Amino acid sequence: MNKIGVIFDLDGVIVDTAKYHFLAWKNLADDLGIAFTETHNELLKGVSRVRSLEILLEIGNLELPEAKKQEILVSKNEDYLGYITKMGPEEILPGVNGLLDTLDDLGIKYVLGSASKNATLILKQVNLLHRFSGIVDGNSVSKAKPDPEVFLIGAKQLNLQPEQCIVFEDAIAGIEAANQANMISIGVGDKETLNEADYNFNNLTEIPENFFSQFISDKRKNNNESRLYKTR
Ligand code: BG6
Ligand code: MG
Repeated sequence: MNKIGVIFDLDGVIVDTAKYHFLAWKNLADDLGIAFTETHNELLKGVSRVRSLEILLEIGNLELPEAKKQEILVSKNEDYLGYITKMGPEEILPGVNGLLDTLDDLGIKYVLGSASKNATLILKQVNLLHRFSGIVDGNSVSKAKPDPEVFLIGAKQLNLQPEQCIVFEDAIAGIEAANQANMISIGVGDKETLNEADYNFNNLTEIPENFFSQFISDKRKNNNESRLYKTR
């Protein structure tokens, strides 16, 4: 393999928006009389807005008519927008800027592969939109993660085969999607939770400088040093 590309998840990899999703869902849960905790919120990571509501209603053992669900989805997003429109570059997670600089230096292209329909807005808020070669988000797909669609579209945007793509993800559903797409999956966050990932790091500051060279080197199979990072 001598050419590679990178696909980044957004929420939890580039920015920590999970806390804003939580606040917005929590407001709604309170209104609906559902006890919703940060532990429950873990289940919503990486999944679509519609699926998130289904999970919330399952937690509360509540069934609602379709019209009410649509109303809730709109109201949740309005609340969430209130938080993200206040975001700025200071909310970019540690290691992101350095990693993007490294990729730029190596001439490796990267695109976004996110479930969020607010991805473009968030990247604009933190002033990173211009750095990405392409954006694949919740508006571009018909099937949500763990379906691999979002990443397969990303590979097309990169003009690469799936096996030439490296995916950075913080959610189980995202790692599953990357693995199903036959891409190299990198779990960012808790290693036990993301144990299906090919490689694991606690955060992006931990990516070794020579990490990408193993994928572009012809000597990949003999490259024992880089294989040390592999966890699957
Ligand atoms: C994902 C988040 O990136 O986007 C999920 O991890 C969220 O928690 C999903 O539900 C959809 O986001 P949005 O912005 O379209 O509501
Ligand atoms: Mg995520």
